[in-house]
Amino acid sequence: MSNQLLKGKRGIIFGALDENSIAWKVAEKAYEHGAHLVLTNAPIALRKGDIFRLGEKIKAEVISADITQVDEIENLFQESMSILGGKIDFVLHSVGMSPNVRKGLHYTDLDYNYMNKTLDVSAISFHKVLQVAYKMDAMNDWGSVLALSYIAAQRTYSSYGDMAQAKAMLESIARSFGYHYGLKRKVRVNTISQSPTVTTAGTGVSGFKSFYAYANCMSPLGNASSDDCANYCIVMFSDLTRKVTMQNLFNDGGYSTMGISDTLISSCFTCQGECFDDPGEKEFILGKKEK
Ligand SMILES: NC(=O)c1ccc[n+]([C@@H]2O[C@H](COP(=O)([O-])OP(=O)(O)OC[C@H]3O[C@@H](n4cnc5c(N)ncnc54)[C@H](O)[C@@H]3O)[C@@H](O)[C@H]2O)c1
Repeated sequence: MSNQLLKGKRGIIFGALDENSIAWKVAEKAYEHGAHLVLTNAPIALRKGDIFRLGEKIKAEVISADITQVDEIENLFQESMSILGGKIDFVLHSVGMSPNVRKGLHYTDLDYNYMNKTLDVSAISFHKVLQVAYKMDAMNDWGSVLALSYIAAQRTYSSYGDMAQAKAMLESIARSFGYHYGLKRKVRVNTISQSPTVTTAGTGVSGFKSFYAYANCMSPLGNASSDDCANYCIVMFSDLTRKVTMQNLFNDGGYSTMGISDTLISSCFTCQGECFDDPGEKEFILGKKEK
């Protein structure tokens, strides 16, 4: 049963593509908690059509906006305030895309036009959303703005490509804009760093199954699902977290603090010694030789 943590609040949710999308779960839960919502996505995602099904289910209008286009974001906020009947209380930025990752380009062979696109769609767009809201004075006092990040912002994940730079920039924007928006309107700006999750964007990363299995084996609580992420977002949009801002918040079952786990040792560690240069070390790993 819902606690109505968002009763009467108005929100805009970016990035619900299909029912696996994290934004989809957040929208469903925000609605259960009493929020009134506008859903938005890029024109190409709207053509897929699923978002309208969600809109009907949660009584939310859908507005097309390419998140890289400032005029489209301005129109989105204007329309949303008119549909919802006032200023906005919360925004979810759940958008990420790298043409380099999509096309499987190696990190040492990036296309820089693609990289600009990666940064624009996945990080600078967060600044654009915040700046539009700030200039239009479209957020209520004590509002909350969230974006979704990944631990590759801090650590190296070999096949995550230029999305690592995008996530590092995304988290930095939350810190920088959080200061200015806090002063102006007491608006909170945070990122949630989520476990690997089975979605269109997630599974588009090469080696995703290893990301997913490894993180689960390392985390004492197991991977956080998209439902877990949605629950965290609801709390962060609610009035229960009014003094939390400019943070990157890990929602990852403990993964980010781990080094090695019993599960990894007992059931997942299948190294055959290939990574060792010294044949003696390889034999040691395979149990053929005592050190
Ligand atoms: N899935 C994971 O493993 C994982 C882990 C940590 C963080 N995240 C982040 O969560 C967020 C949501 O991704 P998801 O996993 O739910 O996948 P998803 O594919 O369902 O969502 C990505 C969304 O970005 C939208 N998008 C892309 N380009 C756009 C543009 N120009 N304008 C507007 N929207 C655009 C897509 O239409 C889609 O709805 C992303 O920021 C992603 O990096 C995902």
